[in-house]
Amino acid sequence: MDPNGKVCAVTGAASGIGKALVSELLRVGASHVAMIDLDDDGLRLTRAEVDPESKSTSLHPTDVRIESELVGAIDEIESTVGAISIFFSNAGISRSGGVEAPDEFWLDSWNVNLMPHVWAARKLVPLMEARGGGHLIQTASAAGLLTVLGAAPYAVSKHAAVALSEWMAITYRPRGIEVSCLCPQGVRTPMLFPELKRGAEQQGTIAEDVLAQSAVTVAGDVREPEDVARVTISAVKEGRFLILPHPEVSDYLKGMSNDVDGWISRMSRLSERISST
Ligand SMILES: NC(=O)c1ccc[n+]([C@@H]2O[C@H](COP(=O)([O-])OP(=O)(O)OC[C@H]3O[C@@H](n4cnc5c(N)ncnc54)[C@H](O)[C@@H]3O)[C@@H](O)[C@H]2O)c1
Repeated sequence: MDPNGKVCAVTGAASGIGKALVSELLRVGASHVAMIDLDDDGLRLTRAEVDPESKSTSLHPTDVRIESELVGAIDEIESTVGAISIFFSNAGISRSGGVEAPDEFWLDSWNVNLMPHVWAARKLVPLMEARGGGHLIQTASAAGLLTVLGAAPYAVSKHAAVALSEWMAITYRPRGIEVSCLCPQGVRTPMLFPELKRGAEQQGTIAEDVLAQSAVTVAGDVREPEDVARVTISAVKEGRFLILPHPEVSDYLKGMSNDVDGWISRMSRLSERISST
């Protein structure tokens, strides 16, 4: 769906890929972009950069882990701005570690990286269907197609997000609703580089975080969020389902599906090599 002249909404809009999506949507002529994020200050600072006159954006401080807050933000946008045509469910968190990671890491990953996609769709699909169409985009990750070393809660929750997107794309297409799944690899944002976070102080980093960051950065180029946003919006315009801003991910995916056992062996050797450096 072409965002030109449309009301769009973006979660995780205060930082990184979400912030770049807001900017790109305004550049391609969206009539309004509703910015949803947990980070109140971040929302205000981001708006000052991307829409200094506050003409085409609105701010909706929301914790997307809570269905009633997310639905409340959608209701507020629909009643004060207008019908949402394109919804980017993009907020996410990274939690590292393996099966020994605390349950809190597993549940947080599930509650931020998966359930808000379900809740946004639960609210918007009937509305969009009644209006004759709409477009839902979930930001998953290349980690949801392949894996990421050192971060099982992240990899597993992103696999669930990809599975949900596929299911929704198949199910809702006949009802006039388009679904896309964004699966970037490394992107230069505070999630991958915590030192980029506003007000971040130099902090110690746990071994699994280092492993996950190293694995992502050896896997291919780290791209700028603005490039990812450009690729995403052009794919949304074309109505494509799978959005891969890093073309190498498509080759990794083919390599994996041709020989899963070989892929496990190669990834295992890579994990050992990175862990020992
Ligand atoms: N950076 C990467 O390398 C990379 C790679 C693949 C996928 N992704 C995905 O891209 C998406 C955006 O991440 P990013 O890299 O821009 O990270 P980021 O940390 O810069 O931005 C994430 C935003 O989500 C918001 N957020 C987190 N929890 C929230 C909650 N409970 N409610 C509302 N907002 C919340 C944060 O406040 C932040 O503004 C995520 O889903 C992430 O998993 C990132």
